[in-house]
Amino acid sequence: MTLPARRLCDLLGIQVPIVQAPIGPAASADLVAAVAEAGGLGLIAGSARGTEGLRDTIRAVRQLSQNAIGVNILNEFPADSILDEILAAKIPIVSFFWGLNLPAIARAKAAGLIVMQTIGSAAEVAPAVAAGVDVLVAQGQDAGGHVWGTVGTMALIPAVVDAAGDVPVIAAGGIADGRGLAAAICLGAAGVWLGSRFLAAQESAAHPNYVARLLAAKETDTDLSTLYDVGWPNAPSRALVNPTIAAWRAAGKPTSGARPGEGDLIAAYGDGRPIPRYFVDIPVTTTTGDVAAMALYAGQSAGQINQMLSAADIIQQMVVQAKTLLSGSLADWTA
Ligand SMILES: Cc1cc2nc3c(=O)[nH]c(=O)nc-3n(C[C@H](O)[C@H](O)[C@H](O)COP(=O)(O)O)c2cc1C
Repeated sequence: MTLPARRLCDLLGIQVPIVQAPIGPAASADLVAAVAEAGGLGLIAGSARGTEGLRDTIRAVRQLSQNAIGVNILNEFPADSILDEILAAKIPIVSFFWGLNLPAIARAKAAGLIVMQTIGSAAEVAPAVAAGVDVLVAQGQDAGGHVWGTVGTMALIPAVVDAAGDVPVIAAGGIADGRGLAAAICLGAAGVWLGSRFLAAQESAAHPNYVARLLAAKETDTDLSTLYDVGWPNAPSRALVNPTIAAWRAAGKPTSGARPGEGDLIAAYGDGRPIPRYFVDIPVTTTTGDVAAMALYAGQSAGQINQMLSAADIIQQMVVQAKTLLSGSLADWTA
C-alpha cells in the first residue's frame, strides 16, 4: 500500500509533504517560489492580494519557479474574481478556507483544479468530500491567524483521518519542525501545513519587528479572540500578545466599539493609506508606524520558532528530523 504522504506528493506534484500556508501578504513571491523550489507546496494568499496583486504575485513567482504552486481563497470575501485569475494563470491547485463554498468548489472542479478545503471538525468531512474536495486540511485551534474550529490539532487529526477514508488529510496548527511532521504522519495525516514557521523564513515579507516578536515568543504568548475585527468581523484569530491586546485585557476585555484606542490610526501601508487599530491586516516590510500594535498573527507553534532560516533550510531540516524519528528506535522503550 502506498503511504498517504507519498500519494499526497504525487497528487500535488511535489517532493515533500510540506505546505507553506497562505500567510496573507507575508507569503511573498520569493517565499512561495522558494518553497516550490525546495519541493514543498507554496500557497499565495489570493484574497489578501486582490486580483491585480494576485496577477503580479503569480507572475513574480513564475519568474523564479515553474514548480507546482497554489492559491488560497478566503470564503469571507468574493471568490469568483480570484478564481478567474487562478484559471487565467493556469495554477493547478486552489485552497479554500472559512466554510464550504459549494459554487466555487464546483467551478474549480469543472475547470480541472485540485481542490483543498480547510476544516476544523470530523463532521465537515462528508460534505466537503461530497462536494468533490481532493485534499482536506484539518486546522487545529493551536493555529495562528484565523481559526475555524475549536479542537486542538492532536485530537483533531485522528478524528478527521478516520472520517476521511482515502481522501488525504493535511495537519495544520502548532507544527513547526520535523517532530511535528513525524507526529502528524503517526496520527494518520498525509502531510503538514505551516504558517508561523514560514513567517520567520528569510523570504517572508513579514515586518522585521513582527518576526522578532515571533522569534522571542513562547507557546503561551498568543491570544485567541475576535479582537482584530475591522475588515473581518466575528472571526476568531490567534495572534501574539502585543500592546493592543495587553491594553484591551487591562481594560477588562470590552466589546467592539468600547475598546481602548478604537479608531486610532496606528500605522500605514507603503503607499501611505492609514491602518486603524484592530484592523485585520498584518505588518509587512513596507508598513510604517506602530507595527507592534497591529495584528501579529501566530500559532502556539511560536514557542518552537527561534531562528530565521531560509525556506529551503526549514524544509530540509524538517524532512531530515522527521525521517530520523520515523525510522528510529522510539518504540524500543522495553529494551
Ligand atoms: C499571518 C497569517 C496569515 C494567515 N492567512 C491565512 C489566509 O489568508 N488563508 C488561510 O487559509 N489561512 C491563513 N492563515 C492560517 C494558516 O493557513 C494556518 O492554518 C496556520 O498558520 C497554522 O498554524 P501555525 O501558524 O501554527 O502553523 C494565516 C496564518 C497566519 C499566521
